Amino acid sequence: MAIQEIKAATMDTREFVAKKIQEISQAVEEGDAINALSGGVDSSCVTMLGHKALGNRLKTYFINNGIMRENEPETIISIFKTLGVPVEVIDAQDVFFDALKGITDPEEKREAITQTFYKEVFAELVKKSNSRYLLQGTILTDVDETVAGIKRQHNVFEQLGIDPQKAFGYKIIEPLVQLRKDGVRKVAEAVGLPETIYNRMPFPGPALSARVIGEATREKIGIVKRATVITEEMLQGVKAFQYMAILHQDRVTGICNGKREFGMQVEIRCWDSIDARNATFTRLPYDILEKLAGRIVTEVPGVVSVTYNITTKPPSTMEAV
Ligand code: XMP
Repeated sequence: MAIQEIKAATMDTREFVAKKIQEISQAVEEGDAINALSGGVDSSCVTMLGHKALGNRLKTYFINNGIMRENEPETIISIFKTLGVPVEVIDAQDVFFDALKGITDPEEKREAITQTFYKEVFAELVKKSNSRYLLQGTILTDVDETVAGIKRQHNVFEQLGIDPQKAFGYKIIEPLVQLRKDGVRKVAEAVGLPETIYNRMPFPGPALSARVIGEATREKIGIVKRATVITEEMLQGVKAFQYMAILHQDRVTGICNGKREFGMQVEIRCWDSIDARNATFTRLPYDILEKLAGRIVTEVPGVVSVTYNITTKPPSTMEAV
């Protein structure tokens, strides 16, 4: 059955929130549910809806998969602590890096993350917590792109004919599946999240592994993580939908300390978009780009080239993997 879209512009946000809280309560009944908080607007919003519906019958986990941005677990846990929502951190770094070992194909990489997340890490947590339900923040754009065969978003199952109950042993509830990003932001504000979250830039489920071309090793993730810190610092004042640093696989000749270095290349992307379906590159001032490139080649060892993407989506997609 086609999902009925709710447009941000015409949504009655208060009514939406009340309805979703009621639906979650009714579905879970007297039982427990769990959810994974990544700190993005979608999962944060679902955490708040679930918390309002179920109180301490919702167990919220932050899965540290090793491919998140710098200091992400600490930052997110402390925000939710001030909101009165307890969050347990699960250290699953080794499991994810093992699953990513040797994988270079983009879709295989996404699939490895999906399987590790749902089949290994989550199935275990569901078992441990005696929950039958997982609440998650799938939005309509995730479904569209997966069904269209553009990208296998990490959190889409039913629309691909996969029954989560059969595949993983639990049911999935998706309160935001009728919304796009602009609608989720309105709901996130309405449920009391701070602006740092409801206006937070999107970040993909496969995290920094979507920004490493080829195998996402610990070392490469470390490099893209450093480039990401610099990119986010330098572009934070820019009005854009999303910006990112991508580590390329191809090497290029550069010069380091007067010597030839066959070094790495980082690509910067900065997008203007409303709902991520279409996007255009942001016309960033050259002096910002120059400073950004200068910092990356100085502060990230081994990087000798920084480029800026000037393509639109489509034909590009926003993430490189
Ligand atoms: P693409 O690369 O498909 O990205 O143009 C569109 C938007 O979706 C985000 N993205 C994801 N979000 N799971 C998510 O929750 C995913 O697997 C995923 N892949 C991409 C991306 O950051 C952009 O905002």
